[in-house]
Amino acid sequence: MRTVYVNGDYVAEEDAKISIFDRGFLFADGVYEVTSVLDGKLIDFPGHAARLARSLRELEMPAPVTEEELLEIHRELVARNDITEGLVYLQVTRGAADRDFMFPDADTPPSLVLFTQAKPGLADAPAAKTGIKVISIPDRRWGRRDIKTVQLLYPSMGKMMAKAAGAQDAWMVEDGAVTEGTSNNAYIVKGNTIITRHLGEEILHGITRAAVLRMASEAQMQVEERSFTIEEAMAADEAFVTSASTFVMPVVEIDGAAIGTGAPGPVAARLREIYLDESRKVAI
Ligand code: PDD
Repeated sequence: MRTVYVNGDYVAEEDAKISIFDRGFLFADGVYEVTSVLDGKLIDFPGHAARLARSLRELEMPAPVTEEELLEIHRELVARNDITEGLVYLQVTRGAADRDFMFPDADTPPSLVLFTQAKPGLADAPAAKTGIKVISIPDRRWGRRDIKTVQLLYPSMGKMMAKAAGAQDAWMVEDGAVTEGTSNNAYIVKGNTIITRHLGEEILHGITRAAVLRMASEAQMQVEERSFTIEEAMAADEAFVTSASTFVMPVVEIDGAAIGTGAPGPVAARLREIYLDESRKVAI
């Protein structure tokens, strides 16, 4: 049975409680992070902590604990739950207050919840060898996707649409261009160039994205941060996605059309290997 963290306490999961007045529950007034664990260590914790601080700032939400305390809680949960490979989920909400659209008083304590998910074999996922299929859907999310909020209903619907179509994920399209996957950043490869959408309010600034682009440049690969269309993706040599839970995952089909040879390509495979190697070295 899992031990989870709720507002200062480590408790058994069935004893964990949050108020029905919590604004995360009533208004999706909360932000989150997902950090992966390999070899019992956290991958890119400083990146996730920095993005969390930014999300909180953008929403004028107080930070419940310091970054050092947050690291300590992550490590304690990994240890108590004996996680070798898996994920740590963290959520901060604006706390519990009587239902009102206005934000509650600034002294309302935020809620902080963390739990682990054991994922044995995460780094060795079979899907990394076969690749995944995606469909395209319109991007119907709100406009501040750079803030990692818990409003995940549309991404959740997108995954269900993908499943109904026999695919594993959906790439979202806005004004003719791909924004990102439902829970990952999207890339195509043409010749020697890796293309992924530029940063802005339209996409989440992936922590894995930042690391992968840095490593790609260090490995002398060309990177272009710009919009691309589904048509351009269909004509690409390769496609892939990145996230904390999938690392670098090849995409082999979009809307039923095979990408390149229809099998995972060498660029995605190489980036996955580099990302996993380098990230393990600096995991904490
Ligand atoms: N999702 N874009 C979206 C919309 C995401 O939800 C995520 C992450 C990413 C990739 O970000 P990162 O590399 O920092 O994980 C991009 C997490 C994994 C989730 O919701 O489970």
